[in-house]
Amino acid sequence: MGVTLRRLGRDECQLAAGLTVAPEQRVYTGTVTEALAGMGEFRHPHGVFLDETMVGFFIVDSAFAVEFDFCDANDLGIRTFLIDSQHQGLGLGKAATVALRPFLVTAFPGVSAVWLTVNCRNPGAYRCYEQGGFSDTGALYEGGSAGPQHVMRLALS
Ligand SMILES: CC(C)(COP(=O)(O)OP(=O)(O)OC[C@H]1O[C@@H](n2cnc3c(N)ncnc32)[C@H](O)[C@@H]1OP(=O)(O)O)[C@@H](O)C(=O)NCCC(=O)NCCS
Repeated sequence: MGVTLRRLGRDECQLAAGLTVAPEQRVYTGTVTEALAGMGEFRHPHGVFLDETMVGFFIVDSAFAVEFDFCDANDLGIRTFLIDSQHQGLGLGKAATVALRPFLVTAFPGVSAVWLTVNCRNPGAYRCYEQGGFSDTGALYEGGSAGPQHVMRLALS
């Protein structure tokens, strides 16, 4: 499945707000609109594209260590990773996570690792991240509002 990842401009962010997840999945990511409302200078919005169609969204957070003490100051974090509900179950999430490492190595040169947390009740996302090369560190992050989360890490260098 050929997907491309790229940073979103302001207009494309408005398009991204049209991406949705099922109501029962919202507990894991919230909505794109909510995420875009809390961006700040360190959170960079990105799209997952199938040809020219935006099918997914994620944020690269270059200040992840401010919130999470398991990572180093220069490491990256991924937030609000989602595939639009109409496009889920087709392998696009896997394709996007597989594309993530080469994309980040080029887009954020010199960074050692990227981190994320995934709810223990979200095996689909966990599997997807594993397929992209993320390793479960074995640590659990307990600070989320929806229960414990696995801490996963992908080496970039
Ligand atoms: C998680 C998410 C990104 C996966 O995207 P997707 O395009 O549907 O995933 P894919 O079709 O690429 O499937 C990836 C793998 O997960 C597996 N999978 C999917 N749902 C699963 C489940 N409930 N339990 C176990 N494995 C599951 C698939 O079978 C596939 O593995 P396989 O190749 O070995 O068969 C998507 O479901 C989503 O956006 N969910 C809502 C938001 C969310 O939870 N984001 C993660 C926040 S941490």
